[in-house]
Amino acid sequence: MVTENTPTDTLNRHLRDLRISVTDRCNLRCTYCMPAEVFGPDYKFLPRSEILDYEELARLARVFAQLGVTKLRITGGEPLLRRNLPDFIAMLTRIPGIDDIALTTNGILLPTLAKPLAEAGLNRVTVSLDSLDDKTFGELNGRGTGVKPVLAGIAAAEKAGLGPVKVNMVVQRGVNDKDILPMAEHFRGSGRILRFIEFMDVGTTNGWRMDKVVPSREIQKLIHERWPLESAEPNYRGEVARRWLYKDGQGEVGFISSVTNTFCGDCTRARLSARGELFTCLFAAEGMDLREPLREGKTDAELIELVSARWKARDDRYSEIRNQNTAGIKKAEMSYLGG
Ligand code: GTP
Ligand code: 5AD
Ligand code: SF4
Ligand code: SF4
Repeated sequence: MVTENTPTDTLNRHLRDLRISVTDRCNLRCTYCMPAEVFGPDYKFLPRSEILDYEELARLARVFAQLGVTKLRITGGEPLLRRNLPDFIAMLTRIPGIDDIALTTNGILLPTLAKPLAEAGLNRVTVSLDSLDDKTFGELNGRGTGVKPVLAGIAAAEKAGLGPVKVNMVVQRGVNDKDILPMAEHFRGSGRILRFIEFMDVGTTNGWRMDKVVPSREIQKLIHERWPLESAEPNYRGEVARRWLYKDGQGEVGFISSVTNTFCGDCTRARLSARGELFTCLFAAEGMDLREPLREGKTDAELIELVSARWKARDDRYSEIRNQNTAGIKKAEMSYLGG
């Protein structure tokens, strides 16, 4: 619902997208996100009592919708681990002004959940998959999980009407860069949209180093030499992935280049943690607590005012100012923020 009251931040960016993390837990331990050495058996995940229930999350989503948000994305950790997720989706579909509800998942639980989620009103899913080779993928996901369950999840999503499915591949040099062409070949002509993501320095535990980043330009050149590509217009202003089409009509690929070709200038995204904190950047150390005001009984108008004031003060553009000295600074973890 866009009105003349929708706030803009200090860099003149509107608030359009809300990414809602429903849990900080995951059934995988991807090395670039939740390394098993850090997220081990003793790791303290958020206890149930700390996490907002669906009514509370939906109420906040409604507040954001009144400030201009039209698009919701459900994330985690792994969002499909949260119980009764279709009920939450159904609540979100009833919010005026929301025209797109998507979800980012590792896909493993989609064979059971795709249908109820679609029936509840989910529009589409994005599935993470970093390799088609069981050994590489198993090592990368820290649990030895093979590729098959993920491909089954993608197929289930399509069958349920959640397509076209986007597939996210985080590329790391020396780890899965050998899988770039096999992944491109597998997904070409399949109706699925493969996106290559530059390894990012989110959080502080994933051992990020610049020399592990494979620049999108390099990947694009590699693919172009095999299957010529032509650039395509963005689907909407501020789209994170840059789109390229196969010239032979076999579909598209995307590049998410948060390291070498930043996109902060058009960043209209806010993130809500499972605990009810508002993060105005993926690389922020802290969020603004909305749980206490919510539980204290603040009215919608008061909550709208709180969020609006925070958004107006927003000056984040981390990817643009990233340098040697920013890699080690305090930042929240990817699994807490939902990417
Ligand atoms: P659609 O365009 O709606 O399909 O979604 P999306 O591409 O924004 O969502 P997805 O969850 O698939 O995000 C893809 C990747 O881009 C993830 O690795 C995100 O962490 C990353 N990403 C998304 N938004 C931002 C952002 O604001 N900043 C940075 N640096 N990375 C982002
Ligand atoms: N760098 C880039 N992408 C990442 N993701 C998780 N951690 C990182 C990282 N360090 C991706 C996941 C998922 C999306 C939400 O974020 O693979 O597709
Ligand atoms: Fe789990 Fe996704 Fe993080 Fe992998 S990237 S550990 S699947 S939340
Ligand atoms: Fe937005 Fe922060 Fe990502 Fe820049 S680094 S695009 S401001 S979330």
